[in-house]
This record gives sequence, structure tokens and C-alpha cells, in this order.
Amino acid sequence: MYAQMIKTASKGVKTREEMTDQEREFQDKIDNDIKIEPRDWMPDDYRRTLIRQIGQHAHSEVVGQLPEGNWITRAPTLERKAILLAKVQDEAGHGLYLYSAAETLGETRDELVKLLHEGRMKYSSIFNYPTLNWADIGAVGWLVDGAAIVNQVALQRTSYGPYSRAMIRICKEESFHARQGYHAIMKMAFGTLEQKKMAQDAVNRLWFPAIMMFGPTDAASTNSDQSMAWKIKVKSNDELRQQFVDQTVPQIEYLGLDLPDPGIKWNEERGHYDFSDPDWTEFFNVIKGNGPCNVDRLSDRKKAWDDGQWVRDGLLAHAQKKSAAKLAAE
Ligand code: 3HC
Repeated sequence: MYAQMIKTASKGVKTREEMTDQEREFQDKIDNDIKIEPRDWMPDDYRRTLIRQIGQHAHSEVVGQLPEGNWITRAPTLERKAILLAKVQDEAGHGLYLYSAAETLGETRDELVKLLHEGRMKYSSIFNYPTLNWADIGAVGWLVDGAAIVNQVALQRTSYGPYSRAMIRICKEESFHARQGYHAIMKMAFGTLEQKKMAQDAVNRLWFPAIMMFGPTDAASTNSDQSMAWKIKVKSNDELRQQFVDQTVPQIEYLGLDLPDPGIKWNEERGHYDFSDPDWTEFFNVIKGNGPCNVDRLSDRKKAWDDGQWVRDGLLAHAQKKSAAKLAAE
């Protein structure tokens, strides 16, 4: 269904006068913070935007397993291995909650996965960067999951009920993810000189990709105006990025690491840190499929999907057998 609904995003938000009675009634619910539930009437574009965002979000959780899963066998201690394994499993669970939330909008998980595999749906830009060493795994947990939480805490208040409820559970687990990442990087930052250098290098490489996760600037964001009017997004890309920078800079300083951007400076007047723009050309290039790992990530996901076909077939056959037996017993 979503495949037929894909169209160019528009920045135009209807005024109340331009809305139909049904649309005005819908907007009143949004304005009064009444959650929209699957069986409620909703504008087609609201449904389409949600499927796009929730689908991309689900894909990000699942593709996000790849850079970390790659390190499970190489974690430095049994404890770190167990923690990383649990985290990577959590990400699969998050993908499931989110695909289920998208299903409540009438879109199947199989169709969303197909669109991902055909390159017709996106996933978070961050997962197209490599994890070169163990320090990167700490930095991913701390910075990437840290950025994800800032966004997801806001999304707990999103207007669509099933998405909002999925976020509440996901955020609890993400907090553990960010904490374990910070703990891992802390060990390195306070370890030997060699370890501290690795931690610094990881932060230097991942800083700008992490702040790109919040999407383009508000001025360049095609979907924000309408998504915010519908409270699908409750904070803008730039607001969330600033919140992440403000909470992360003191953590970098606590670790005794150098700031990864010479433009980071406390701005007394604004009550926020100033920081440099990431390279937006690089960002748009990555989301178009040209990042360092896009090709590998997609081919790994397709392989995992194909390799798992026998499991899905088995589960389906078992479910069919069980329901046939139940019917026969009735
Ligand atoms: N990566 C890839 N594409 C991105 C992007 C990013 N970091 N940021 C923006 N884009 C894309 C948008 O999808 C949009 O393209 P489209 O119209 O073709 O879909 C285009 O760039 C313009 O951006 P907009 O600001 O207009 O797009 P949105 O309004 O959708 O805002 C968003 C982008 C803030 C990422 C929003 O979609 C969002 O909040 N999504 C839910 C959160 C999410 O997806 N998080 C994934 C992070 S990773 C994660 O959670 C896993 C955890 O385990 C670490």
C-alpha cells in the first residue's frame, strides 16, 4: 500500500479554512492532545507520513544491529560480550514493536522490508559508517543511542497511540544502551594512553555523523512543518540536535577528551552550546545510498532475510497446523 502512496513531500500545511470538516475535527483532536488510534479516521497523508517514519525507524533498529553485531565475537571480556549481545537483541525487539505499530496502519512488515531491500525506504544515516574498533562500539552506544533517546523521548508524546506506546518501552531499553556505551568509553578514556587515544579517535569520527541523525536543518526539512502540525514530531530537528549537544558536551569534558569540533563553545546569551554544522553534502550523499557502508548494509540485510526464509516458513506452517487443529476440535 505504502509503495503506491509514496509521493514527493510537501511543505504546505493546510489552514483551518482550507480543511474539510473531517480534517478540522481530526486537527482538533491533535490540538487537544487526544491520541489517534488505528480505527480512527485520519488523513491519507497523516497515515503515509507515519508509515514512512515508523517504517524507517524500524529499519534503523534492524540495520543498526549490523555494526554492533559484528563486534560480539570480539568484545574484550565475557561481561562486555553479554552486554553487547543483550543490546543487539533489544534492537531486534525494537524493530518488531515498530513494524507492529506500522501494521496497525495497514502496512505489512513484508512490504516494508521489501521496500527497504529495493532501496525505496531509508534507514538512519548513522549506520552507514563503519565501526573500526572496540572504542567505536562504546562511542556508538553513548553517542548514537544517546542521540536516538533524545529523539525518542520526544516521540513518546507523538500523536499516534501505537507509536507513542512503543516509544515508552523502547526508551527504557535505550537508556541502558547509552549507559553501557558511556561506561565502555569511560573505561578507555580513563585507561592507558593508547586506550584514551582510541576513545578520542572514535569520538572525533562519530561526532558529526551522530548530530546528522536528527536530520537536515529545520529550514531544509521537507516534512517537519506538516509533521509538527500533526504532532507526529513534537520537537524540530534543530531543537533535538541542540538538546543532544547540550547534554553531551559536559560528558565529553568529564571524560577528559578534546571536543571533536572547534566550534563548540558555551553561548551565555542563548544558554546553549554553539557548534559547527556537519557537512550537509555528506549527509545527503549518505542518505542517497553513497555512504561508506550503504552497499554492505543492504546486502547483509537481504542475505539475512533470505537465509531466514526457512524459519518464517516453519513458523507459518506451525501456526496453520495449530489453527486447523483448533478448528477441528470446535
Ligand atoms: N537518516 C536517513 N534519512 C534521514 C535522516 C537520517 N538521519 N534524517 C532525515 N532523513 C530523511 C528523511 O527521511 C526525509 O526523506 P524522505 O522524505 O524521503 O523520507 C529527508 O531526509 C528530509 O528530512 P525531514 O526532516 O523532512 O524528515 P523527517 O521529518 O522524517 O525527520 C527524523 C527525520 C528526525 C529522523 C524523523 O523521521 C524521526 O524522528 N524518525 C524517528 C526516529 C528514527 O528514525 N530514529 C532512528 C535512529 S536510530 C535508532 O533509533 C536505533 C537505535 O538503536 C540507536
